[in-house]
Amino acid sequence: MLEQVQRYYGETLTGSHDLRTDACCDGAAVPEALKPLLADIHPEVSERYYGCGLVAPDALEGLRVLDLGCGAGRDVYLLSRLVGEQGEVVGVDMTAAQLAVAERHRAYHAERYGYARSNVRFVEGRIEALGALGLPAGGFDLIVSNCVLNLSPDKAAVLAGAYQLLAPGGEFYFADVYADRRLPAALAEDPVLYGECLAGALYWADFLSLARAAGFTDPRLVDARPLAIDDTQVAEKVAPARFCSATYRLFKVEGLDPGAEDHGQTVTYRGDLSGYPDNWSLDRDRRFPTGHAVAVSANSYRILRASRFSRAFAFDAGAGAHRGPFPGVSDANPFTTAIACTTGSCC
Ligand SMILES: C[S@@+](CC[C@H](N)C(=O)[O-])C[C@H]1O[C@@H](n2cnc3c(N)ncnc32)[C@H](O)[C@@H]1O
Repeated sequence: MLEQVQRYYGETLTGSHDLRTDACCDGAAVPEALKPLLADIHPEVSERYYGCGLVAPDALEGLRVLDLGCGAGRDVYLLSRLVGEQGEVVGVDMTAAQLAVAERHRAYHAERYGYARSNVRFVEGRIEALGALGLPAGGFDLIVSNCVLNLSPDKAAVLAGAYQLLAPGGEFYFADVYADRRLPAALAEDPVLYGECLAGALYWADFLSLARAAGFTDPRLVDARPLAIDDTQVAEKVAPARFCSATYRLFKVEGLDPGAEDHGQTVTYRGDLSGYPDNWSLDRDRRFPTGHAVAVSANSYRILRASRFSRAFAFDAGAGAHRGPFPGVSDANPFTTAIACTTGSCC
């Protein structure tokens, strides 16, 4: 399986134009502020971008970031700029041909960003064995990944490894492809279906279970879009399953409840996260208008308190007594809210 994926990304594909579905092609609306930064990335790197979402969360200045399955490094170089010269970004990938492209543009990007030296490095290896790569346990504030977990034959090991490498309060923020049901195992034998990020996709509810088992107790859905499969041969093989690309954020925060509980707590967003003077969203369901106290579940309270977003909020713990379940919390199903895209033009 791993060799098949290496061949697909190292030899079969020469650029995004070779893809046969839009599964590995980013249809996410890029915020205006990021467009010039993406335009600044070396064309050879951009041309080999095979992501399915945008993995650039907010408040990145100074962070230590790890990109799992970084490919030719597009997200690594975007994040290199967003974390600033004092931050650092490490990219891991198992395909030497992809890493060779990433590696040869390190100096180019450092110079372009005005850094005295590159804040980026690349490591060749399998993301199922992160512990063997000499990366520091608890040494990363943020782990990202873009359209890779579906390709892994051992997704539980990847999630467990990511949990180990995150610092307390850190987050795994990543985009991937999900199915609306469990897929027949036989589909994984087709190198195109697998390489195009479909056959290895998890049923979304199974993903939530795996994430929780790895210690990420309260997965949060950030964004989702349905995938259009224009290639009729591919579409016939995977029917009737439907697919979507979704971005989740998983926080490493101890002591979270299995469900959303109400302890009468509120948080008030101060309005000082860069680019968000009026409001800021933690995930698809939780938006915080500036200067307004918003009631939150005990989990949201703990996540905001423990994470790098803490400095942007005022916290009121209330009386602390439990009031029962927190009302109106969704199940993080990406298929219930994915924005309709009826053609392949979402890319
Ligand atoms: C769809 S591409 C995405 C690449 C990159 N994240 C991007 O957005 O352009 C998948 C990448 O994951 C890498 N990959 C897949 N399975 C892997 C594994 N088990 N360990 C390490 N890298 C893996 C492949 O080599 C390939 O570069």
